[in-house]
Amino acid sequence: MSIVRTLQHVDADRDGIDTAFRDDVLAGLAQRHKAIPARWFYDTRGSGLFEDITRQPEYYPTRVETGLLEQVGKDIAALVGPGRCVVEFGSGSSVKTPHLLAAIDPGSYVPIDISGDFLRDSSRSLAERFPDLPVIPVEANFMNPVALPHEVDGQARLGFFPGSTIGNMVARTAVDLLRSMRDTLGGPDSGAMLLIGIDRIKDVAVLEAAYDDAAGVTAAFNRNLLTRINRELAGTVPEDAFVHLARWNDRFARIEMHLEAQRDVAFQVAGQPFAMAKGETIHTENSHKYGPRDANLLLRTGEWTPVETWTDADDRFALILAKATEYRTAP
Ligand code: AVJ
Repeated sequence: MSIVRTLQHVDADRDGIDTAFRDDVLAGLAQRHKAIPARWFYDTRGSGLFEDITRQPEYYPTRVETGLLEQVGKDIAALVGPGRCVVEFGSGSSVKTPHLLAAIDPGSYVPIDISGDFLRDSSRSLAERFPDLPVIPVEANFMNPVALPHEVDGQARLGFFPGSTIGNMVARTAVDLLRSMRDTLGGPDSGAMLLIGIDRIKDVAVLEAAYDDAAGVTAAFNRNLLTRINRELAGTVPEDAFVHLARWNDRFARIEMHLEAQRDVAFQVAGQPFAMAKGETIHTENSHKYGPRDANLLLRTGEWTPVETWTDADDRFALILAKATEYRTAP
């Protein structure tokens, strides 16, 4: 059973340019420390390259998290109970979702994604795999509270946010998102819960290799942003002058990806001129990592109370189940 709702989400100007992309790129390149939000990686080629990244031997998060879901599905089911509306934030291609849905006997499934194409494809295959499950995709930006379809009224919600996508956000933004998820999913009276994947702090060599695989797929993923800028924003960025960098920033407990200019360059984007000196970078992604207490503090700050944490034997990746925090006076 599948009902597809489509909302117009891309604001395009007269030349068909995605104005949100243009505004982010122009503002980001005008800064002293150049930076472009990581969400712009995911055009069609970027989304495909990310799927390739998840199959690289060095990129452990997807394998470890999927394995965890398979292993602890019964424990999750016991804690969340049957009949829940599973709301997935940024469902993308939803590869991990079948493992969760098969384990917990849900009442409905609502994937939320900004990309309607991905939503339609993944909703179709899920609806085939779970013919009795109402699948109601919603095309929206999950960073803001999302109105859920009335078909799921009365069902307690289980938010699902796998992949350590929360790691892309600085703490303040991560907390804003957690609170906004609480608005979307409901408070403690409705029994709202959240199952979230969070990547752990670990050996720097392991982390840096995961973001700089030997086959060069992550490098291609990073550099594709320049290709996209040149194609969609009438850019003249000399792509061959930039190399992929992935490095651990210990002070911020995060992997940073940058595009580093190998020589002095000058170029235009959407009619605006920019120059970069040799060695200067464009910061393209943060991937924050969390120790056990860090993760719990993050969730609590976002008004979610951790209920259970599952990790693999090497503590590489954590799946955390939390419940909406009750607001009450505390010392
Ligand atoms: C999709 C944000 C979880 O940060 O690990 C993978 C994206 N970037 N390799 C991550 C990514 C480079 C990924 N997330």
